[in-house]
Amino acid sequence: MQTIWITGGSSGIGFAVAKKFLEENWRVVISSRNEDKLIKAVESLKNLTKKNEIYYKPCNVSNYAEVNNTISFIENKISNINIALLNATAYSPNRSQEFDINNYNLLINVNLNGTINCIDVLKNYMKGRNNLISIVSSPVGYRGMPTAGAYGMTKAAQLNLVESLYFDFKKLNIKISVINPGFIDTESTKLNSFKMPFLKPASYAGEKIFKGLTGKYKFEIYFPFILVFSVKIMRYLPLKVYSFIWKKLGNF
Ligand SMILES: NC(=O)c1ccc[n+]([C@@H]2O[C@H](COP(=O)([O-])OP(=O)(O)OC[C@H]3O[C@@H](n4cnc5c(N)ncnc54)[C@H](OP(=O)(O)O)[C@@H]3O)[C@@H](O)[C@H]2O)c1
Repeated sequence: MQTIWITGGSSGIGFAVAKKFLEENWRVVISSRNEDKLIKAVESLKNLTKKNEIYYKPCNVSNYAEVNNTISFIENKISNINIALLNATAYSPNRSQEFDINNYNLLINVNLNGTINCIDVLKNYMKGRNNLISIVSSPVGYRGMPTAGAYGMTKAAQLNLVESLYFDFKKLNIKISVINPGFIDTESTKLNSFKMPFLKPASYAGEKIFKGLTGKYKFEIYFPFILVFSVKIMRYLPLKVYSFIWKKLGNF
């Protein structure tokens, strides 16, 4: 039986991925900060899947000592980690377009420091084992978008990080990949006030991520194709055309 560790596994995309991997007879360990939420998630996953190989360990990914303890606990007391899904996120939309330094620092702490904390510890355990570290980023990271400066910056940095580590981690025999979902209905996206095109349920993300992570190695997993591919193309538009689109979409 193989093991996946999912950060931010108590809700949203992380929870849906945990459910799918359990159904497919994987051992699943979920982490996030709130222990009560984790306990409820584990109960609910057991009820929904009728499987028992589900474990939890509270962990704030921004805290290096907690990350170190958590990974060491899983590796020594539960099992080697075959796939680490670095999915935990802080998200706070900034409708006013005001530059809020506290929001920038919060998102850097969770989305960036959290990601590199996990990678730093995981690499020591995973080297030579041909395991996979997959980071859940976002198409928002492809190109700067109005109101998304803080969140988009952290997601762009995650993308760039994976592009670099793809080369560097070959030497350690660790695979690394990135996941770019479109709009998925979760606690985070409930904070959005705009209409989200191609909004999908979290179970859809769970299916796509399971297929992408367990099939032939893919550097990038993205879905739904039509939405995310369109955002990819926007990267190459001249600024005049790009800003015209945003003016039409939201008078930015
Ligand atoms: N939903 C979308 O439309 C969408 C689209 C593109 C990309 N994404 C990406 O998908 C991933 C999951 O998003 P989601 O929408 O499923 O989010 P979500 O439902 O809001 O869940 C976020 C999870 O992260 C945990 N978390 C927050 N801060 C943490 C910390 N410091 N340490 C550990 N865990 C922490 C939360 O639990 P606690 O609060 O208990 O810690 C929760 O389990 C994120 O990386 C996001 O950027 C989402």
